[in-house]
Amino acid sequence: MSDAAPWLTVIGLGEDGLSGLSAAARAALDAADLLVGARRLLQMVPEGAADRIVWAGLDGTLDAISAARGRRVVVLASGNPMWFGVGSTLARTLDPREISVYPAPSAFSLACSRMGWAMQDAVEVSAHAFPLESIGRHLFPGARLVVLSRDGDTPAGLAAYLSERGFGPSRLTVFEAMGGARERRVEGSAAGWPHPAVDALNTVAIEVAADADARIYGLAPGLPDEAFLHDGMLTKREVRAVTLAALSPRPGETLWDVGAGNGSISIEWLRLNPSGRAVAIERDRDRAQVLRINALRLGAPTVEIVEGLAPEALDDIAGEPDAIFIGGGLTSGDTLAACWERLAAGGRMVVNVVALESAALLFEFQKRNGGTLTQLAIARNAPVGAMTKFEPMAPVIQYAGVKA
Ligand SMILES: C[S@@+](CC[C@H](N)C(=O)[O-])C[C@H]1O[C@@H](n2cnc3c(N)ncnc32)[C@H](O)[C@@H]1O
Repeated sequence: MSDAAPWLTVIGLGEDGLSGLSAAARAALDAADLLVGARRLLQMVPEGAADRIVWAGLDGTLDAISAARGRRVVVLASGNPMWFGVGSTLARTLDPREISVYPAPSAFSLACSRMGWAMQDAVEVSAHAFPLESIGRHLFPGARLVVLSRDGDTPAGLAAYLSERGFGPSRLTVFEAMGGARERRVEGSAAGWPHPAVDALNTVAIEVAADADARIYGLAPGLPDEAFLHDGMLTKREVRAVTLAALSPRPGETLWDVGAGNGSISIEWLRLNPSGRAVAIERDRDRAQVLRINALRLGAPTVEIVEGLAPEALDDIAGEPDAIFIGGGLTSGDTLAACWERLAAGGRMVVNVVALESAALLFEFQKRNGGTLTQLAIARNAPVGAMTKFEPMAPVIQYAGVKA
């Protein structure tokens, strides 16, 4: 057997157990020397000659699986193993050519079938892998969401979140234990959701609908300033849109938001780039708490908040960011130098300042390292007596550079 030949088989099981398996998956299961899976899934397979190990997370199980290389190892998964499943977990660690996967229908595909929804028109959200507030970036009237639940309380949590955000008329349909004898369906509106707890194994289909006064935010960067709770320490909408364009988020990338304030840049980064990371560094505890609330409300619950002062606080953060934003408080060249040093090759650094002393630091930095300086002078309409004038905001000097 060459190193890359499959010795590991991952079999997806539905709630209908072995009766739903294809002949090929069944043959692989019957031939197993070692069976690995969650207790619930192992119980679906009658005891045989194969040894058994209960799945204890990748860290707790990978050594035992790797040690069995060369034996016929079967890992049991639920539904489609490559959709938020153990198959994708294993394929990230082992050579995928060593793994054969037999998928069963995913909860996504079962829920869409039951709702009569085209899968390509529905959005998948995992409240199992991520906090349920992740749905916050998908709140558009008419949107169809399929949400994987963490437990029996997830539907009530989703209903409460939707109601608080002004989406109380949204319709939730909960599918418990799809595909098995216990299957049950309960439904209702988010406002006044009538089902406090349901079966722990459930998936929720949501048809999003808004109250008349709901705030609906678009897909483009530059959310209205009122979208955020803030104490004035906010990158204003027009400047924020230009800043995000310069930071240029790409899927999976990591941002460090240095002096994150109320979090608007980190939050918009994650709304644009949900598979990425945003690390928000903020020294003020109250502001960090407001940042957390903004992140939950706006569908960016995975923001990582580091309470501390740059540049020292950067020492506690591992890895190389793909983009760095410095949004305020640039009083010495130390933070600039430390951030540039930590930035990944090819990464983008964007710095916004207002004070001339800070602008002078940026000018020196730009002369040494290249990049561009831009002045953003924005004025908005404001009343002047019974008439209207343009009221200028303090001009922002923006540095944007790419590290060679
Ligand atoms: C870790 S995810 C695994 C998803 C799986 N790989 C799939 O393809 O469906 C676990 C979540 O899937 C959902 N789920 C899986 N099987 C289900 C079923 N038969 N009925 C309802 N929900 C199910 C639940 O939301 C559960 O919390």
